[in-house]
Amino acid sequence: MQISPSILSADFANLEAELKRISDADWAHVDVMDGHFVPNLTIGLPVVEALVKVSPIPLDAHLMIDDPDRWAPGYAEAGCRSVTFHIEAAADPRRLARELRAAGSRAAMALKPGTAFAPYEELLPDLDMVLVMTVEPGFGGQSFMEDQLGKVRQVHEAVVRHGGEIWVQVDGGVSAETIERCADAGADVFVAGSAVYGADDAASAIDELRRLADRHQHP
Ligand code: DX5
Ligand code: ZN
Repeated sequence: MQISPSILSADFANLEAELKRISDADWAHVDVMDGHFVPNLTIGLPVVEALVKVSPIPLDAHLMIDDPDRWAPGYAEAGCRSVTFHIEAAADPRRLARELRAAGSRAAMALKPGTAFAPYEELLPDLDMVLVMTVEPGFGGQSFMEDQLGKVRQVHEAVVRHGGEIWVQVDGGVSAETIERCADAGADVFVAGSAVYGADDAASAIDELRRLADRHQHP
């Protein structure tokens, strides 16, 4: 069970210090938004390259951008240890996933709430993680979408059938109130933005999330 705090809810004027606050986490989740694929604009490759150099923990890049076939490999080459592209935006997802792995990163595909998993199950051999969005991508601090738990279960079952080490990540509205249900459904990597950076003590928020997830680990 792994925790990946999202720096979207961090202080963008002090990102190096904000990364240090979450050094007990497994990953630092970096939300890249282009103002086209989602109606919000955050940071891009030059900032991510700078973050790789100072982060005490590996970066988990979540690319909410158009044309990931063109842009995503650059994030792997920059040193992100996991790179997630949105399946809705990818032209040739199999080739892209292979390129990400060849560049030394884990390769992951993300599904928006309205996107079904079944048509993409055949991509599993080329993937290291599937991200099930539990809010509409674009903004932090939104309410968790309970109706996505069925998809988490479905992805988990497909991963078990397929074998190998493929992780199931949830992102959006994950907190001490919702993480247990995500873990029960089969998620094993948990992104949390406001639940970690909104807490007085980020380290203890991370500990608490991990404790709750561990208790509900899916068999
Ligand atoms: C939303 C982003 C999330 C966001 C989660 O598009 O992908 O990573 O930071 O924020 P919370 O945990 O506050 O819902
Ligand atoms: Zn994200």
